[in-house]
Amino acid sequence: MTSNCRTIAERLTAPGKGILAADESIGTMSSRLEQAGVEPTAENRRVYRELLATAPNLSDSVSGIIFCDETLGQTFSDGTPFPQAVLELGILPGIKVDTGAKPCRSARREDHRGTRRSARSAGEVRRHGGGFRQMARGVRDNREHTYPWAIRANANALGRYAAACQAGLVPIVEPEVLMDGRHNRGRCRDVTAEVHAAVRTELELLNVDLAGIVLKPNMVLEGQDYPDRPSTPEEIAEATVSVLRAWPEELAGVAFLSGGQSPERATANLEAMQKHETPWPLTFSFGRALVSPALTAWHGDPQCYADGQAALVSRVVANAAVARLRVAS
Ligand code: 13P
Repeated sequence: MTSNCRTIAERLTAPGKGILAADESIGTMSSRLEQAGVEPTAENRRVYRELLATAPNLSDSVSGIIFCDETLGQTFSDGTPFPQAVLELGILPGIKVDTGAKPCRSARREDHRGTRRSARSAGEVRRHGGGFRQMARGVRDNREHTYPWAIRANANALGRYAAACQAGLVPIVEPEVLMDGRHNRGRCRDVTAEVHAAVRTELELLNVDLAGIVLKPNMVLEGQDYPDRPSTPEEIAEATVSVLRAWPEELAGVAFLSGGQSPERATANLEAMQKHETPWPLTFSFGRALVSPALTAWHGDPQCYADGQAALVSRVVANAAVARLRVAS
């Protein structure tokens, strides 16, 4: 089973490819549809996800698509279940299993994601043809200090989830320091390093095979309300790679979340990362930075279906091109 995980993880982070996160929860997806002027029905969420998954030549740049639980049970308009349809397109289907942010009871002011049970068991995901799962745990760092308890609780949950997944599925392990707040880049670097250290400890204790996971971290940059000059791509790349260097060589790969950055900024930062020699591939697992332009271009208008797909393709092609620039050490 572990060698299967290694093969899937390698495929997910193959040179010049990345992951498309189309896994907004029903609530988040509904409010994004409403903002775009689209009625937030299950059918419109399905149509939108099919638009994304069937964008022309997507599999040239995208190795896997993460869906939410609802999509896993839906079908393409020809009746083929999403996971099977995506596999037939040459893309690995995966599922997000965290169920949203909840306050940590013991630390009150931290966010702690997904304390409820994951929606689907590993066996069920495999039966649906899924090859991987994703779980995120977020830490909000816009207060004076971050609570060690919340970091440990989140790290432990990620470790237990990763160990359970590796009975045949690749865990995408997503420790996220949120961009909310006024903190500077140095503060983000310190907290991200602390969070990663806690996650590594748990993964080691639980014997998780790092060659069979994909790490999905935030990039190290200032909070979105930081009042000073925004960091340059070179500064972000330097800070991010310096934190990542603590990860062993056997880690299968790193696929960044976009975290609320503009699509262009996320791509520029990913490009700057590639100038650093690393033992693991650095690629994308973006959500908003890939799908927001597609939603805006489509906005529920059947006449604009192809425009929505073209907007997505233009972002994935740009990101795949920079992921291909990797310098391996
Ligand atoms: P963003 O790229 O929008 O931060 O989303 C990534 C993600 O993990 C969605 O599951």
